[in-house]
Amino acid sequence: MWKGRFKEATSSLLTNYGESISLDWRLYRHDIAGSCAHARALERKGILNSDELGQIIDGLEAIEDEITAGEFEFDIELEDIHMNIEANLTKRIGNAGAKLHTARSRNDQVALDVRLYCRDETARMVTRLRNIQRSLVNCGEKFSAAVLPGYTHLQRGQPILFAHHLLAYVEMFERDAGRLGHSLERINVMPLGSGALAGSTIVLDRDFIAEQLGFKAISQNSMDAVSDRDFVAEFLFNLAMIGTHLSRLSEDIILWCTTEFGFVTLSDAHTTGSSLMPQKKNPDIAELTRGKSGRLYGNLMSVLTTLKGLPMTYNRDLQEDKQPLFDSIDTTGAALDIFAEMIDGMQVNEATTREACSDPLLFATDIADYLVEKGVAFRTAHEVVGKLTAYCVEHGVAFPEIKLDTYKEFSPEFEESVFSLFEIGSALAARKAIGAPSPENVAEKLSCWKKKLGKG
Ligand code: ARG
Repeated sequence: MWKGRFKEATSSLLTNYGESISLDWRLYRHDIAGSCAHARALERKGILNSDELGQIIDGLEAIEDEITAGEFEFDIELEDIHMNIEANLTKRIGNAGAKLHTARSRNDQVALDVRLYCRDETARMVTRLRNIQRSLVNCGEKFSAAVLPGYTHLQRGQPILFAHHLLAYVEMFERDAGRLGHSLERINVMPLGSGALAGSTIVLDRDFIAEQLGFKAISQNSMDAVSDRDFVAEFLFNLAMIGTHLSRLSEDIILWCTTEFGFVTLSDAHTTGSSLMPQKKNPDIAELTRGKSGRLYGNLMSVLTTLKGLPMTYNRDLQEDKQPLFDSIDTTGAALDIFAEMIDGMQVNEATTREACSDPLLFATDIADYLVEKGVAFRTAHEVVGKLTAYCVEHGVAFPEIKLDTYKEFSPEFEESVFSLFEIGSALAARKAIGAPSPENVAEKLSCWKKKLGKG
């Protein structure tokens, strides 16, 4: 492509070092869509006649079909997807192909392709988030009666419904989908026409190009447009955040699967055995996902670090955005897909979770609230129940086993009605503030989400 300026052939080490076709071939559809829009603008400007435009469009479509069919031969001497397609087009149609790169540089071309790609992948990622949300909601509905101890500090705290715990993740993934949607505003900006860095003396109708490609906005500074990869970093942050949420869900599931907890059982299809210990059934999907989140953070760091020292404008360093971007998209996409399937096959061991909720200490806060209802200050009530708890521990008894007379020694406000607190159903039913886990609230949330998420 630059043979005019050079006398010596490129070192084969450089050819291998500099190629990106092994990664960026996957931009081919977007590259071709961009070239078709650019060619139409060239025709409007009179650079191409309608016959040449027709040849270019037909040629590009044939190339697209060939790549899709796996029949296209990529050449690493041609570095990247942009030059591979252009060279092949010119080989096919001759001079018209050689006109395509008028008023365009690979710098604005690659910026365009990556933006189109990120736009498509954003939509796909949101669909996948909807799928995992749907699986969580379905699982919550299937086990809507299952109770669970809620934890802080991994110490049993207060009773909740299992579905409420799952719905917490539905909220997290909802924020992730929202973030991806908001980022589109910054992705969906059309950079073509910025040329190498200063536009072109051949002035094309950028609005016409943007309109063809469905862009909402046009970049306003040619130098910024060819060097901006903020949207890549932002996308990688969004994926890293999804990774954080998946990793936390992984941790919960790994704990729940242990013999010690025993709260859920994963299907055979979504667990692995041990080559040595025949009894093992391991939650590898969750462990791998917890592990892969590290790579998602690394990919974000990698792009931020690449960007931070770049002088204006395009520098070849920017080619290093592809590997982390593609890897994070593949990794997050695969994790969301497999998690949705795993959750669909997950069984809750309701007897075990109920047994775990029979720990009377889970009702300690409810006893304090009971005293508050009788006019005792919360701090005083907290201390009374603290002392009661110490009494239980010391005498090896539980709240329901303490006699009313003894209760009264701790606070005269206690009455027979205190014993009605130690029933999980009423303890849950009482938690009816917005966002709290009363069965009524949870049922309503499940049905709201079901409506919002639809069938998929
Ligand atoms: N493969 C390059 C990239 O991904 C395309 C742009 C190359 N531009 C250049 N001036 N060498 O960044």
